[in-house]
Amino acid sequence: MRVARPDGFAGLGARVLAGALRECLRDGSDGEETCSLALAGGSTPLPVYRRLADEEGIDWARVRIFFGDERAVPADHEESNYRAARESLLDRVPVPPEGVHRMPADAEDPDAAADRYGDVLPDRLDVLVLGIGEDGHTASLFPGSPALSERTRGVVPVEGPKPPTRRLTVTPPVVEAARRIVVLAAGERKAPAVARALDPENDAGECPARLARRGTWVLDEEAASALP
Ligand code: 6PG
Repeated sequence: MRVARPDGFAGLGARVLAGALRECLRDGSDGEETCSLALAGGSTPLPVYRRLADEEGIDWARVRIFFGDERAVPADHEESNYRAARESLLDRVPVPPEGVHRMPADAEDPDAAADRYGDVLPDRLDVLVLGIGEDGHTASLFPGSPALSERTRGVVPVEGPKPPTRRLTVTPPVVEAARRIVVLAAGERKAPAVARALDPENDAGECPARLARRGTWVLDEEAASALP
């Protein structure tokens, strides 16, 4: 867990993500290996993505972009995680266009779209970025959701409490298989959920963000304030 000094959250998050990407790209045996980066939605990651775009020494041509979840809205909709990632990061780094895999949650048949996206996902994501909701959700895995019991499909459609309610989300096996997880949380309102997610007494059924407990948690002081 890394706790940022005030106003350092975006910089710390960017340094952690840049370090994970550089390590992943360096691990590539023949220097041609690509690195899969799955981005979180919501607003918390956006200042981190903007700072990440300015980080040096990342061979973006070898990075492949995926998403942990997406709302059932068009790609240019103000609530689109894809649009937010484009504006804060993807339009500012040289990721090859064919290497950006938008999650088509607005497809006519969300179930078929979920399976197609599951087929596109690598067996193990190299870097998975996640956020956390005040209710302890992560990606679009909400407390009590049937998606928390999904062990076969990599991506499923869900109906969640956070509008826009219809979404696609990666499932627990995808989170569990990720090589590196980075959780980004900021603000006082997230403090109780962060504390619940990092408390070994709790389980992922009531606090889905526990699925990310082994990750690197990048917090500002407010979000860390309820930790023992
Ligand atoms: C989404 C996100 C979701 C988000 C949390 C936190 O599409 O809504 O994937 O899981 O990470 O809800 O959202 P904020 O960062 O906006 O607080």
